[in-house]
Amino acid sequence: MSVFSRIFNKKSLEIDKSGLPKHIAIIMDGNGRWAKKRGLSRSLGHREGSNALKRITEICSDIGIKYLTVYAFSTDNWKRPQSEVDNLMQLLMEYLKKAETELAGKNNRIRVLGNKRALSHDMQNEIKRVERLTERNTGLCLNIALNYGGREEIFFAVKEILKEVGRGKLKPENVTQEDLAERLYTAGIPDPDLMIRSSGEKRISNFLLWQAAYTEFWYTDVLWPDFRKEHILEAIAEYQRRNRRFGGV
Ligand code: FPP
Repeated sequence: MSVFSRIFNKKSLEIDKSGLPKHIAIIMDGNGRWAKKRGLSRSLGHREGSNALKRITEICSDIGIKYLTVYAFSTDNWKRPQSEVDNLMQLLMEYLKKAETELAGKNNRIRVLGNKRALSHDMQNEIKRVERLTERNTGLCLNIALNYGGREEIFFAVKEILKEVGRGKLKPENVTQEDLAERLYTAGIPDPDLMIRSSGEKRISNFLLWQAAYTEFWYTDVLWPDFRKEHILEAIAEYQRRNRRFGGV
């Protein structure tokens, strides 16, 4: 490494602890390609992806990020081969079971965002257990988006409002944007400040559509299993160099 690139790298990783994004969202993409490049099965790619998530959660918790939301399984991922779906569900189950020792012990909270009714009873019970166990923790809140779809989330919230209007609980002329936001899976969670997508893709893929209205995006060609401390710090440092105007001047 040349002297120049060493200085440059060091500088680009400097982050200002007082201007951290409160909420980071990540589309963890590239597990399959990571495995293919090595002649390994996709399931090994997902396992390495799960290890990467563990690393990044720990780093975010240590530097003081308050919310980390990760896209683990979308409403469209059911289209994958059954064996891959089973493998992802198994990994998620393992992750939740270990969360107790690996995450909760560090004062971290875990929430699962998505349509839980379509998940197995075992998974639903495990989610309830972990959410209850960690609900009083005040450190990083890890939100795992599982069977999550942004359009579906907005659609369900609108239906909920319509039901309440039908029951006379809400008056249509009084419905506000806040009423809708309170009926999303992310109720009570601030909008993401920074969204990261790995593996070179530049799409939002139905993730946090309502919440990402003013989110800063950061993309990298790095495949998710290779995502490390230097990448999250680089994303945060770049975020801190941006000028957020929220539609103003
Ligand atoms: C996208 O990569 C990744 C997913 C659809 C699943 C993300 C899952 C994990 C990171 C591991 C399990 C998660 C938890 C919370 C334990 P891809 O398979 O679409 O990759 P490709 O585009 O290279 O094929």
